[in-house]
Amino acid sequence: MAAMFTVDFQNCFIFIILCLLSTIFYSLFVVRKTKAGSDLPPSPPSLPIIGHLHLLLSLVSHKRLQRLSFKYGPLLHLRVFSAPILLVSSASIAYEIFKAQDLNISTRNLSTNEGSLFFGSLSFIAAPYGDNWKFMKKLMVTNLLGPQALERSRGIRKDEVNRFYSDILDKAMRKESVGIGEEAMKLINNIICKMLIGRSCSEENGEAEKVRGLLAKTDSFLKKFFVAAILRMSLGISLFKKELTGVSLRYNELLEKFLVEYEEKLDQEHHHQGSEMLDVLLEACRDGKITRNHVKALFVDLFVASTDTTVHAIEWTMAEIISNSKVLERLREEIGSVVGETRLIQEMDLPNLPYLQGVVKEGLRLHPTAPLVPRSFQEGCKIRGFDVAEKTTLVVNLYAIMRDPEIWEDPDEFKPERFLASSRSGQEEEIAREEILKYIPFGSGRRGCPGANLAYVYVGNVIGVMVQCFDWKIQGDKINMNEAVGALSLTMAHPLKCVPVPRTLFSSV
Ligand code: HEM
Repeated sequence: MAAMFTVDFQNCFIFIILCLLSTIFYSLFVVRKTKAGSDLPPSPPSLPIIGHLHLLLSLVSHKRLQRLSFKYGPLLHLRVFSAPILLVSSASIAYEIFKAQDLNISTRNLSTNEGSLFFGSLSFIAAPYGDNWKFMKKLMVTNLLGPQALERSRGIRKDEVNRFYSDILDKAMRKESVGIGEEAMKLINNIICKMLIGRSCSEENGEAEKVRGLLAKTDSFLKKFFVAAILRMSLGISLFKKELTGVSLRYNELLEKFLVEYEEKLDQEHHHQGSEMLDVLLEACRDGKITRNHVKALFVDLFVASTDTTVHAIEWTMAEIISNSKVLERLREEIGSVVGETRLIQEMDLPNLPYLQGVVKEGLRLHPTAPLVPRSFQEGCKIRGFDVAEKTTLVVNLYAIMRDPEIWEDPDEFKPERFLASSRSGQEEEIAREEILKYIPFGSGRRGCPGANLAYVYVGNVIGVMVQCFDWKIQGDKINMNEAVGALSLTMAHPLKCVPVPRTLFSSV
């Protein structure tokens, strides 16, 4: 992916020329107005013309930006050409912004590709905060991701987790190596497909492979989108418009097929067991509140937002558990005493497994799979006494915040017990407040991740099954924990592969 991103010389050249022209325009007509008398946060040294662009394009940008904050401070003013950026790397400043400016930063100002299903103008993730976004968010929470909707769809996830267990058991019996990310990807895709369209994608007719291929392709766009968002220019997107339109057409073909099939079933079977979310969306289409393309664009967003993030979280957390034998032992003790040895761990068990919950949280703290969150200030304001101009891009470095040595003890170590109430001193309320301040793998505020509850349940359940049922043999004596370069989501450089050895056999799953 790094290669894809850096070798595109022709596009880069056109891009730089266009940016230069826009910079001249911007500096002549805009900057003069905003600079006079403003008191900006500190700014590290920048390069002529491009400003701090090289830092944002760097291969592992969240780490580069973290180092920058160690050197120059937690609140920095950066610029890319003449577009201003506010970089936040401390929990207390992020908290202040999310609390006092939540509405002001509730739009991302992402550039969109007109007519595209993927990051097009109908995208939920890219939508400005407003009536459309609120309508879709309400539908999503009520019918898909809110606590009650999750309770209603529990059966879907239970069946898929059982299938996941059986697949790994098959491989274990054949002494085959398992790609944890690959298996997790199949599971998450099936779950999200069933929750959205009422059925999983078939492995047999290549449908599942198609979805995975599209998601991999989409992933390769994400860093470009991030940079385009920061530049606040649609010209960034126009450079890869053709590629984007191609992917969008493939998504359209697949989703149209799903929708037509779903509607045919609705007509044929009166008691069709479908998808609650799709039923409501199709009704909104019939009422003229949204279009068919809104439905497809939302599904693309949900596939993209829910897959890689969760799959990488499962992979990193498993890698940490296998590398820390004491954590593995303690997890097994907890699961053994709460769930026992006669049945497979289920989602319903999670509230009674605080250590497992701590392990999942700690995995996301050390490896937040979406490490940089971009937003945009719709209006000028003051942050810690500094001026922030209207339309400044806000970048919150979740990675830096959750490894801040000022507020986390041994920030680089995997210590799930830090999330257990018994290891804390002081009042519960104080702890809750402190956690909101410093633990934000899902972002925060009204544009924070709506899938956090779902992510916690599927990551917790899958990790629980892998720990309860198998020992994991790795190649060599240590797992390589390096991060992949060039990816926007935090990915393992060497995908985790190990051989499962059955510990407990459940015949009745
Ligand atoms: C471990 C898994 C996940 C992680 C680490 C994660 C992280 C994030 C982060 C950091 C954001 C940006 C929040 C902000 O701007 O403050 C986000 C947004 C979003 N996430 Fe997640 N996410 C995960 C799983 C999911 C799942 C399972 C879904 C849905 C099925 C989902 C749907 C979304 C959507 C739709 C948005 C955009 C929200 C908006 O713009 O209003 N995510 N996620």
